[in-house]
Amino acid sequence: MEEKRASDSFTIMNELVLPNDTNVFGNLMGGRLMYWMDIAAAMAAGKHCNAPCMTASVDNLSFKNPIKLGNIVHIEAKISRAFNTSMEIHLRVWGEDSLHQYSYESNEAYFTFVALDPNGKPRPVPAVIPETEVEKKLYDGALRRRQLRLVLAGKMKPDDAVELKAFFVQAQ
Ligand SMILES: CC(C)(COP(=O)(O)OP(=O)(O)OC[C@H]1O[C@@H](n2cnc3c(N)ncnc32)[C@H](O)[C@@H]1OP(=O)(O)O)[C@@H](O)C(=O)NCCC(=O)NCCS
Repeated sequence: MEEKRASDSFTIMNELVLPNDTNVFGNLMGGRLMYWMDIAAAMAAGKHCNAPCMTASVDNLSFKNPIKLGNIVHIEAKISRAFNTSMEIHLRVWGEDSLHQYSYESNEAYFTFVALDPNGKPRPVPAVIPETEVEKKLYDGALRRRQLRLVLAGKMKPDDAVELKAFFVQAQ
């Protein structure tokens, strides 16, 4: 299977925050943002593997700044690394106030998608070629993040998370 550049999956999605998207404080609801992020990540994963994909997991999400009613939500998604049948998608989110012409960071997250064959079974995906310094850093870290999420999900024994353990030993 031919490798693909990380940049080939790059996806930008914009949404306008309307009253029905807000909480009682007049800011974008976290759940609505997660829904849009899931769609942006699915598009990036689909561009990489050219197959139907399923969300397997979402890493911890925290919201730095509320996105206000009437502002634009700007989501960027790109694959950081592919494993066998799964892909880690890195997302960055900003709010944009187009009236006053400024942007503010909202959050950053990692979603994992699995490509499925016509029988709904996981199927192999192409490897990723990271090109920029940022892409290479994300690619390297993806192995440790994968081990952490699989250990937390009870799908990997802590002893098998070799790169993750080495990282903590190094940090001491
Ligand atoms: C995701 C799903 C297809 C994985 O199926 P599975 O039977 O566990 O398959 P496998 O154990 O062969 O794992 C397949 C891949 O998923 C990855 N995976 C499984 N669970 C994972 C988790 N919790 N987090 C991250 N990756 C996970 C595995 O590491 C493997 O990746 P790899 O092939 O690159 O090594 C299956 O759990 C599923 O269908 N879940 C429901 C997904 C869904 O409905 N999403 C919409 C939101 S409700």
